[in-house]
Amino acid sequence: MFNIIIKEDYRQISEAANEIVRELLAKKQDAIFGLATGSTPLGLYSAMIADNEQNITDYQKVVTFNLDEYIGLPDKHPQSYKSFMEENLFSKINIKLGNTHLPLARDSQDLRACQDYEELLADYVIDIQVLGIGANGHIGFNEPGTAFDSFTHIVELAKRTRLDNQRFFSSLDEVPTHAITMGIATIMKAKKIILLASGENKAQAVFEMINGPIVEEMPASILQKHPNVIVLLDKAAASKL
Ligand code: F6R
Repeated sequence: MFNIIIKEDYRQISEAANEIVRELLAKKQDAIFGLATGSTPLGLYSAMIADNEQNITDYQKVVTFNLDEYIGLPDKHPQSYKSFMEENLFSKINIKLGNTHLPLARDSQDLRACQDYEELLADYVIDIQVLGIGANGHIGFNEPGTAFDSFTHIVELAKRTRLDNQRFFSSLDEVPTHAITMGIATIMKAKKIILLASGENKAQAVFEMINGPIVEEMPASILQKHPNVIVLLDKAAASKL
């Protein structure tokens, strides 16, 4: 079930998402968060950092699980999602690094890494899962065609996704071809999902997620079946609704 909230701009959706995070932390200091990377959650993470600096929120007991990670980037590569999270959130709030988790696969055959992440996740229930959405409707790195009953798995990235992410690398050749990602079924286990989308290039995917048929060709459409999804959109992302 979607609760769709449309705001004027990116800053306002980031603030609205942070408000939900803040409310949860006021009630539950040891909350479990599912986190995403990419451009979209950066405004939310800045707001979380500001609240933590001002002692409005406390992350000492918080546990996090990231959705996904590239495969094949050297350790500490600036574009790895581990580096991204450390730089944009973890090093700037009082979270214990030992409480932060990202999946990590050695290569595209490393099925053990997928099992390990699912086994770790099995001990927790994610209170809030933060999601962005790809222009092709992907969530996490679950590209169109991914089975709705998938758990953590290794994917070959779609050309469009690699092109979208090329801006973070010096050339397309440098963008990894594979990633490890929570599956759709993993994501659906979260108690609450906050999906953020900003900008015109997300408008079609947002429209299909909300109004389209529930089909594996549009991974985000499965969220129609989740009991508690807050969709935070700026005007451009909501322009086709
Ligand atoms: C990243 C992730 C991806 C992104 C999506 C949108 O952890 O899960 O699904 O949310 O590719 O990326 P941005 O926000 O850069 O448009």
